Amino acid sequence: MSPGRFISFEGIDGAGKSTQHAWMAEHLRGLGKSVVSTREPGGTPLGEKLRALLLHESMHLETEALLMFAARREHVERVISPALAAGNWVVCDRFVDASFAYQGGGRGLDWNKLRSLAEWTLGSLQPDLTLIFDVPIATAQERLKKGTATPDRFEREQAGFFDRVRAAYHRLASENPDRIRLIDATRPPEVISKELEEIIATI
Ligand code: TYD
Repeated sequence: MSPGRFISFEGIDGAGKSTQHAWMAEHLRGLGKSVVSTREPGGTPLGEKLRALLLHESMHLETEALLMFAARREHVERVISPALAAGNWVVCDRFVDASFAYQGGGRGLDWNKLRSLAEWTLGSLQPDLTLIFDVPIATAQERLKKGTATPDRFEREQAGFFDRVRAAYHRLASENPDRIRLIDATRPPEVISKELEEIIATI
């Protein structure tokens, strides 16, 4: 059995990561891999319930962080670890870096608290590859405005919030150069997919 791989997709809201996440799942299936496509917060029945709360109920920033990690613990235990153990490729729309970027960068929660939660929740589990889709805030907000869905609690945040989220993603990318690739997501989707195809061929 060939070993599975764990790939996470990150970026500010409106960066276009979900489009590339869906593309990647199909691309890998086309290469004959068995793929588990999932997302955070969510990915399990309980996690999806927590997602609904996280996206729509107002709460203290630490409550928000704890619920993100509670959903993640369930997700790792019931979906991600078993899928990897069975040799699947797991493609996850957001994972732990989102907590550092949004709760740490965006909301200003102490990174050391997040580090403790990450250690507790994940142990040694880390994605093999993390793709951060990077766009200027103005571009992301234009894209969000074109969407039809009602904006959630995060999407309604001001530009300053997303500036801090984006800066935190840049920090994560520079601190983890072996795992994280920063992708210029201002380009057309097919050009981005081509770059992903090349990256995937190397892991
Ligand atoms: P998102 O992938 O943007 O969902 P959709 O594309 O359907 O809008 O995720 C929902 C939100 O959750 C997003 O705004 C970022 C936020 N989030 C955090 O704040 N921390 C986390 O740890 C995760 C996983 C997500």
